[in-house]
Amino acid sequence: MKNILIIGSTGQIGTELTMHLRNHYQGNVVAGYIPAAAPKGELLESGPAEVVDITNAQQIADTVEKYDIDTIFNLAALLSAVAEAKPQLAWHIGLGGLFNVLEVAREKGCAVFTPSSIGAFGPGTPKDKTPQDTVQRPQTMYGVTKVAGELLGDYYHKRFGVDTRSVRFPGLISNVALPGGGTTDYAVDIYYKAIQDGSFVCPIKAGTFMDMMYMPDALHAMVQLMEADPTRLKHRNSFNIASMSFEPEMIYAAIKKEMPDFTMTYEVDELRQQIAESWPNSLDDSCAREEWDWSPTYDLDSMTRDMLEKLSARLK
Ligand SMILES: NC(=O)c1ccc[n+]([C@@H]2O[C@H](COP(=O)([O-])OP(=O)(O)OC[C@H]3O[C@@H](n4cnc5c(N)ncnc54)[C@H](O)[C@@H]3O)[C@@H](O)[C@H]2O)c1
Repeated sequence: MKNILIIGSTGQIGTELTMHLRNHYQGNVVAGYIPAAAPKGELLESGPAEVVDITNAQQIADTVEKYDIDTIFNLAALLSAVAEAKPQLAWHIGLGGLFNVLEVAREKGCAVFTPSSIGAFGPGTPKDKTPQDTVQRPQTMYGVTKVAGELLGDYYHKRFGVDTRSVRFPGLISNVALPGGGTTDYAVDIYYKAIQDGSFVCPIKAGTFMDMMYMPDALHAMVQLMEADPTRLKHRNSFNIASMSFEPEMIYAAIKKEMPDFTMTYEVDELRQQIAESWPNSLDDSCAREEWDWSPTYDLDSMTRDMLEKLSARLK
């Protein structure tokens, strides 16, 4: 990776990935954005930024040409709960956008990273230790775009030799940018509310397990996969990765260990609950471990300590 374009650089992942890459790579790391979500502060001041709407193939091609881009991180998407409210737009951005990126990559010889998700699985998928290669029949538009995106990524690799790589992210927990409307957002909100209010109303039912990951591990996964030796990769789109699986009572208990007065009640959001129940409880990530040495650093307790420390310093 030398010159890098990040499409969707101002979202939850992009905000941190852009800074991470700028701190670790010498070449241009271009922050692509749409005018409705322009970069600010450090993100704007620390490197080049360009308007790149993923639905506009010309804008992608012009930016790739201008900065001699060799790697594209495609982070533009509508997340699961938002995509259910706007399914047509979710398809247009998720699949139409990915097609534009892959076509530009084919013409200009770029490598492409596009995240998939635990949302690429559905109710027919084995729920515990979900295998790498298994049934993928999701019932949400988010899931439909993710499965189709995985297939399109593999197609462009096999048919045209485009270096496409991807992971299925679980819910990502971070303390820099807020999440963009996903089903796992509660596991970020709970830390903010613990610090700000000392109490949290949980929208997901007790006992609902989902895979989650702390953002530093997610950043590490993206870079490690894109730097991996291609001859070792038997899979490409998309690798299961995992670091922790928990249900609301477990994250509540982890926070309570650090903040004994913290309280939690429930007010279940039916749409998010339905989506959560259709997703796996935990993924088997042994292929990622074998093919590119994936290994996470954080568990629930170490993440909780770090989240509370960072947020307390910022919010208090
Ligand atoms: N955050 C998570 O927990 C999580 C989990 C699994 C997978 N993912 C995947 O990772 C990727 C990034 O997720 P995120 O959490 O950063 O999402 P986000 O909603 O926080 O950010 C999405 C970004 O896309 C941009 N965008 C929207 N429409 C666009 C368009 N037409 N052209 C260009 N950019 C556009 C938004 O401005 C935003 O910067 C998505 O593919 C998402 O499905 C995220």
